[in-house]
Amino acid sequence: MKLSLPKHSKLNNSEFTYGVATASFQIEGSANLQLPSIWDTFCATQGKIRDASDGKVACDHFRLWQEDIELIKSLKVDAYRLSISWGRVINQDGSINAEGIDFYIQLLDALKQSKIKAFVTLYHWDLPQFIEDNGGWLNRQTAYLFQDYADKVSLIFGDRVYSYATLNEPFCSSYLGYETGVHAPGLKQKSYGRQSAHHLLLAHGLAMQVLQKNAPNSLNGIVLNFTPCYPLTDSAADKAAASFADEYFNQWYIKPLLEGRYPDAINSLRDEDKPIVLKGDFDILLQPLDYLGVNFYTRNVYQHCPEQGFETLPVQDVPKTDIGWEIYPQAFTDLLISLNQQYQLPPIYITENGAAMADKLIDGAVNDINRIQYYQGHLEALDQAIEAGVNIQGYFAWSLMDNFEWAEGYLKRFGLVYVDYDTQVRTIKASGLAYRDFISARHTSN
Ligand code: NOJ
Repeated sequence: MKLSLPKHSKLNNSEFTYGVATASFQIEGSANLQLPSIWDTFCATQGKIRDASDGKVACDHFRLWQEDIELIKSLKVDAYRLSISWGRVINQDGSINAEGIDFYIQLLDALKQSKIKAFVTLYHWDLPQFIEDNGGWLNRQTAYLFQDYADKVSLIFGDRVYSYATLNEPFCSSYLGYETGVHAPGLKQKSYGRQSAHHLLLAHGLAMQVLQKNAPNSLNGIVLNFTPCYPLTDSAADKAAASFADEYFNQWYIKPLLEGRYPDAINSLRDEDKPIVLKGDFDILLQPLDYLGVNFYTRNVYQHCPEQGFETLPVQDVPKTDIGWEIYPQAFTDLLISLNQQYQLPPIYITENGAAMADKLIDGAVNDINRIQYYQGHLEALDQAIEAGVNIQGYFAWSLMDNFEWAEGYLKRFGLVYVDYDTQVRTIKASGLAYRDFISARHTSN
């Protein structure tokens, strides 16, 4: 099966950027060469990771990076999205870890030499544990430590970086990490979720200030995830439930950055659950963005629930990926159009989209037709959003290769490339070949 779109589609133009994405903790390994992060601690806590695994070796990318760059090149992509492990490049006393920074410099140089644009995320969830020991994202000071880290690395990286993202999915860091506890550091309190979200957004604003100064030629922005919220029925109560969930899970992270306030859902929180926001904070949050990174995978359906206001419904009798997420590409189009209607958006890059599938390596090949179908459906959905006038400049498949899928460990495979974790042999799946062929077939003018 091939990936294809009508010839005239903007997605078939070589001006449109295509890439693949990864994140440090999920692929690098060589954990002994960096400060321990909250994910090392979380993995070492019994019962937190489904297969009781950890990131000590992962895809061994820290050692196999040259081979992985060849892999990226062979996919013919324009861009590679990676993240920097904070605790690999900055020591506990704030000084630079020379070995760690060299690793990224070599990687960035190799990308540049291969004319692959580097999209660098500064924070993809691997907070150094010593910072967590001082309160982590519940401590306002962490936002300033992040600014300092962003300052130092952006000065060192110079013009090697095409684009910076301050944070990846602050929803996950705050809500999953501090409110429901399914991600590191595993804390469970509503007020913690809200306060950590505020400090993460503050960290974003503070980092943007230094990025715009140190890297004025890079595209500087943030990556947010959106899981659109649909009501189960047309009833007013279900609609209100979906709209509250949308404010709480999605708009919470974008509205303050573009409009300098939290959504109205904040008014229904108990006072003790509301975040402490200092005077002037929203001015820091409101930094002009060169782009907005959007991660999209699935949607959720909500119904009214008397106790909490809203309730998510488990997906039944619908097409799902191997991680249980509904396959519903229409939500991708709807999301992009509605964001565009609601906000004055900067240009958008789709910084993640993809699917976990139960891949099987048979005779040296992975024939993941279901993943190709997922990409086909979502590229069509993206095309419709572009046709409707949304300014979208690029698209990244999640992920380059199978990797450590957080609380799911190595059980869920999202890669375009299959990883045999015993041998570290990489095999390009049928979806990777289809992506490569689709990208290679683009033309240069409309
Ligand atoms: C969100 C995250 O950014 C990434 O780390 C994760 O692996 C994928 N989505 C899939 O869940």
